[in-house]
Amino acid sequence: MATLLLFFLLAVSVVSADEDAFIGVNIGTDLSDMPSPTQVVALLKAQSIRHIRLYDADRALLLALANTGIQVTVSVPNEQLLGIGQSNATAANWVARNVIAHVPATNITAIAVGSEVLTALPNAAPVLVSALKFIHSALVASNLDSQIKVSTPHSSSIILDSFPPSQAFFNRSWDPVMVPLLKFLQSTGSYLMLNVYPYYDYMQSNGVIPLDYALFRPLPPNKEAVDANTLLHYTNVFDAVVDAAYFAMSYANVTNVPIVVTESGWPSKGDTSEPDATLENANTYNSNLIRHVLNNTGTPKHPGIAVSTYIYELYNEDLRPSSVSEKNWGLFDANGLPVYILHLTGAGTVLANDTTNQTFCVAKSGSDSKMLQAALDWACGPGKVDCSPLLQGQSCYDPNTVVAHATYAFNAYFQHMAKSSGTCDFKGVATITTTDPSHGSCRFPGSAGKNGTLINGTSLAPSSNSTSSGCLSLYFGGGGSFTNSVIMGVLLFSVVLL
Ligand SMILES: *[C@@H]1O[C@H](CO)[C@@H](O)[C@H](O)[C@H]1NC(C)=O
Ligand SMILES: *[C@@H]1O[C@H](CO)[C@@H](O)[C@H](O)[C@H]1NC(C)=O
Ligand SMILES: *[C@@H]1O[C@H](CO)[C@@H](O)[C@H](O)[C@H]1NC(C)=O
Ligand SMILES: *[C@@H]1O[C@H](CO)[C@@H](O)[C@H](O)[C@H]1NC(C)=O
Ligand SMILES: *[C@@H]1O[C@H](CO)[C@@H](O)[C@H](O)[C@H]1NC(C)=O
Ligand SMILES: *[C@@H]1O[C@H](CO)[C@@H](O)[C@H](O)[C@H]1NC(C)=O
Ligand SMILES: *[C@@H]1O[C@H](CO)[C@@H](O)[C@H](O)[C@H]1NC(C)=O
Ligand SMILES: *[C@@H]1O[C@H](CO)[C@@H](O)[C@H](O)[C@H]1NC(C)=O
Ligand SMILES: *[C@@H]1O[C@H](CO)[C@@H](O)[C@H](O)[C@H]1NC(C)=O
Repeated sequence: MATLLLFFLLAVSVVSADEDAFIGVNIGTDLSDMPSPTQVVALLKAQSIRHIRLYDADRALLLALANTGIQVTVSVPNEQLLGIGQSNATAANWVARNVIAHVPATNITAIAVGSEVLTALPNAAPVLVSALKFIHSALVASNLDSQIKVSTPHSSSIILDSFPPSQAFFNRSWDPVMVPLLKFLQSTGSYLMLNVYPYYDYMQSNGVIPLDYALFRPLPPNKEAVDANTLLHYTNVFDAVVDAAYFAMSYANVTNVPIVVTESGWPSKGDTSEPDATLENANTYNSNLIRHVLNNTGTPKHPGIAVSTYIYELYNEDLRPSSVSEKNWGLFDANGLPVYILHLTGAGTVLANDTTNQTFCVAKSGSDSKMLQAALDWACGPGKVDCSPLLQGQSCYDPNTVVAHATYAFNAYFQHMAKSSGTCDFKGVATITTTDPSHGSCRFPGSAGKNGTLINGTSLAPSSNSTSSGCLSLYFGGGGSFTNSVIMGVLLFSVVLL
């Protein structure tokens, strides 16, 4: 019975597939050295970023964005929500000043009304839907409603029981807001805005969610999460949260509202209590996220349906209060230098500072050290590699290990041979990677030479050590008492304890 009902819901769920997914970037401005609007726009152009979201409707930035073609989501800040939600005239005024004044030169395509209002500013929740409606009617009055969508970003924590996704529902306390909100989104052809943070889900799961599952890294098939109701396989937290939102909407009888992820990302630095906020993890998450989104992979529930996503965020915001990680979600520093270089092979043109054509030859991890030494000797001898940076006192002497020195020499040879095929083998002890092995002052041939963006690793192989224990469940009984997407992981892996 339940299965039949589910099947029916799946079958009637129709989310339009006519658009390609895009990657956008959020622009927070809490920097002590905030770049000027012209500098911001220059960075966006250099990086081929075509979609952005602002947390306000800053006039100078909107002016600088004119005639760039960049598509902009502007926001009504939470502080202005009460006024707008209580007065049609205030809303119309806001739209006149912050939107009508800028279009069509600046391509404003959406208005985000508030930010995580239900969880961050619950006392404004009663006027949230009015605020959306007032803003929308001002757009209708100016004939802008077909090109500018109105919605409001939600924290994924309003979705309860989010694993298995097929059992997810919106916190019923918010029905008086969510039900009319979803009807509004449906009737205006808008979309559900959702913030999806696998980093927090992972952090708060106390080790129950494997890091690989949060980072979109391959899991052994027996560790994939399977939704027992739908038999859909989940290979990453992001998809599971998005599908939970689709299911939560369908339980509210709304099946044709698409989802746009308004925020997702991973911090590149944290304090001692945040050991997984690292450059490498941030790079892995965002690189995999971008590839996943731009591939139009969709989710298990809606394969091939665009889930456009805005990365959180463009700049590291050093003035953000609280934890170290809070200040380190950015892709760039205030000078516009990338914090790390994304691995975007095959992901198209967004974010030009990628490593698409940057490949390196490194010692294969676990290789026999005698074979490495022999290959190193060959490269620096008959191979004619300039191995002088490996001499004591020179830039690549440290670390003084055969693996590190062989990596340097293999790569120099590979680059010198124009990366032609067969030149990164060395009898099987070498392998190609897209991770720049440069470190400190030791610059590897072929490196774009960005500072502070490099990791030590000599292997890109997906980590196979998993933090989870044992095999994954097909069991998702009970439910009901679990609360949010964090708990998802607990359910996910609870079978181990059962
Ligand atoms: C603005 O973006 C929309 C949506 O992609 C596009 O159709 C339109 O041509 C753009 N307008 C301008 C002026 O760039
Ligand atoms: C709000 O104002 C718009 C014009 O901006 C008007 O079309 C609409 O009817 C008004 N709505 C209400 C509820 O007063
Ligand atoms: C969805 O539709 C069902 C069947 O018509 C109804 O019982 C239920 O109350 C509806 N739910 C909502 C949230 O409207
Ligand atoms: C891209 O999409 C195809 C299906 O359309 C899928 O088979 C493939 O795994 C996807 N690749 C990535 C990197 O998500
Ligand atoms: C990388 O980005 C910087 C701006 O941050 C830009 O000046 C530079 O040209 C970019 N490099 C590549 C290879 O795109
Ligand atoms: C990568 O290399 C190919 C061929 O050399 C070139 O056509 C392409 O533009 C390069 N891509 C980037 C992003 O540099
Ligand atoms: C980059 O690294 C070099 C050598 O370590 C250093 O001299 C230079 O100041 C660094 N540049 C930046 C922008 O950090
Ligand atoms: C790089 O290596 C140094 C010294 O070996 C170590 O302290 C540091 O944690 C490593 N960094 C990463 C990102 O692995
Ligand atoms: C549902 O929302 C209410 C109102 O914000 C909140 O008090 C309650 O804790 C939430 N329930 C769960 C299970 O998170």
